[in-house]
Amino acid sequence: MADIHKPPEEFRIRMRRYDPESGEAPYWDEHTITLAPHRSVLEAILQARDRFDGSIGIRCSCRQAICGSCGVRVNGEPALACHTHLDAALKSSPDGVIEIEPMGNIPVIKDLIVDMDAVHWKKIQRVTPWLINKQPIPEREYLVSHDAMVDVTQSMACIQCGACVSDCLAMEVDPGFIGPAALAKAYRFVGDPRDAQQKERLVDLAQDPEGIFDCTHCFKCVEACPKDVNPMGQIMRLRRIAIDDHHIVDVNNGERHEAAFTGLIKDNGLLWEAELLPRSYGGNSWFGKLHPAAGKELLSSLPAIVKALIRGKVTPMGALKPHKLKSKDLKSVQSIYEKIEKKPERYELNLYISGVDEVVQETPVTVAGGVETEASAPAPESPEGSTSV
Ligand code: SF4
Ligand code: SF4
Ligand code: FES
Repeated sequence: MADIHKPPEEFRIRMRRYDPESGEAPYWDEHTITLAPHRSVLEAILQARDRFDGSIGIRCSCRQAICGSCGVRVNGEPALACHTHLDAALKSSPDGVIEIEPMGNIPVIKDLIVDMDAVHWKKIQRVTPWLINKQPIPEREYLVSHDAMVDVTQSMACIQCGACVSDCLAMEVDPGFIGPAALAKAYRFVGDPRDAQQKERLVDLAQDPEGIFDCTHCFKCVEACPKDVNPMGQIMRLRRIAIDDHHIVDVNNGERHEAAFTGLIKDNGLLWEAELLPRSYGGNSWFGKLHPAAGKELLSSLPAIVKALIRGKVTPMGALKPHKLKSKDLKSVQSIYEKIEKKPERYELNLYISGVDEVVQETPVTVAGGVETEASAPAPESPEGSTSV
């Protein structure tokens, strides 16, 4: 935790400046500011703007990690400027200067301000970000169970800052990918028992070539998120419900690819890439490679395979020989599968929080002329009320 008793000191900040309307190339702009070490990178930027250059572009509002408007990159990592202490930022700087850039994967409007409408909000709109009521609509409110609300709480914590979008490797390669923030938003409604179109939403997101199966599990969005929304986890949950509950087989081969992937790890304990592609197209067994669809896909992948062989990334024997763990280690991996698969209900490893409302015990208090009550300390939570995390 930051020490709030330290006196102000000097910090050097280096900002990436760019004004597309000026016609000039981006450049770095360095200033020395004076602030206590526990103050934020946002305060440093604002001080530089006040003291040295009123034209520095930065967007902010709440200054307390709530509104999501001050997303930037600090020393190359996505962050909320108002939620990053100067002393922590200095520690992660390789040369003693705190480097601040606009977020990635989103066009720059000016300096540190990016065009959230052009990318982030467009993608959020893509996932129908509102509840589609089940009919008939009750006369009074819908009643939703505690567990069902806990289930969507994690995705509801999103403040739409775009930090995950900024760092998403799949979006860097394919800007059309719906992306981590929008897919986390999609789970917010797919997981809501009041929504009437769970299956339709999932079919849409699974069949889209830039939908749920476009994520490469790189974990960057998980690390980037300042609110622990775990966007990749939400995408995996969308996949699980699409595959296990609705048996959606997508045209992108995502469902079969996932089955081949997990099947290979279960059989060998290691991923065997040469076998992954044919099984993804032909089915999760050794014979999968004889399937015509697998042959067709192998043929179309030949240029990439030849390139990998020429560059020595793979050797013919290395590719053809099964990658397998030693028997003892393989048994340990397989025991994880057995344990998870034996569970009567789907086992979630990424639930966010759980608990029950505090039970307030009432203690009688005697007052003049009668008896009144006063709330005492909350009773301990009942263990039955908790959901495993
Ligand atoms: S895990 Fe998926 S959604 Fe998250 S950053 Fe990586 S590719 Fe993007
Ligand atoms: S998921 Fe996290 S990082 Fe992505 S927009 Fe929401 S709060 Fe920001
Ligand atoms: S100013 Fe609101 S999150 Fe930083």
